[in-house]
Amino acid sequence: MRITYLGHSAVMIMHEGFSVLIDPFLSDNPLAPVAASTLDPDLILLTHGHHDHVGDALSIAKRTQAPVVAAPELIALLEAEGLPAGKPLNIGGTVEWQGGRARMVQAVHSSSYGDRYAGEAAGYLIDWGGMRLYHAGDTALFGDMKLFSAIQVDLAMLPIGGVYTMDARDALDAVRWIQPARVMPMHCNTFPQVQADPDRFVFEVNENTGCRGLVLSPGASLELS
Ligand code: NI
Ligand code: MN
Repeated sequence: MRITYLGHSAVMIMHEGFSVLIDPFLSDNPLAPVAASTLDPDLILLTHGHHDHVGDALSIAKRTQAPVVAAPELIALLEAEGLPAGKPLNIGGTVEWQGGRARMVQAVHSSSYGDRYAGEAAGYLIDWGGMRLYHAGDTALFGDMKLFSAIQVDLAMLPIGGVYTMDARDALDAVRWIQPARVMPMHCNTFPQVQADPDRFVFEVNENTGCRGLVLSPGASLELS
């Protein structure tokens, strides 16, 4: 399984010829490593309606016909703009594809699309190819992350930028609670409001927890097996 970090909270996961794209914020991200027009995902997962997460999802979905998974309220708003294949999912619901599945889980955050309410913000727990991944979306630290330790997460992708999400200090507590094998920081340094030092975060993770921290630069990939 290959995980490619596309900057901010955008991640492409590829396994056995199938690709899942999460939160493809590219065209308006000055640090995006690829153009949205180069991506050909089989499935798109959106954590919530904010522009730095929905990003280019609509244009990619229109071009590729890839189904988009998101909160029902967000799907309805995207369908009004011509989304070809929406898969509404609410917290606790699961979407499946060949050999894999993603469960939408709680995030403590808001969600709007333009000036419209876009449902609940969420994260995803992904079970695919023997790997368990947690993409937290935008969230504050919340106590039920402690329950995720039972899942034995192989890779957690956590925001550390503060202001709109938890900061690096809270993300370190999230690592202690989730106890993933690996953690990748995200949602930092894309714009001035979300400044954080991912290398410092990873140092703290490696010094203080049993988890291995990994900084992926936008465009870098990680092989999991
Ligand atoms: Ni947000
Ligand atoms: Mn965000």
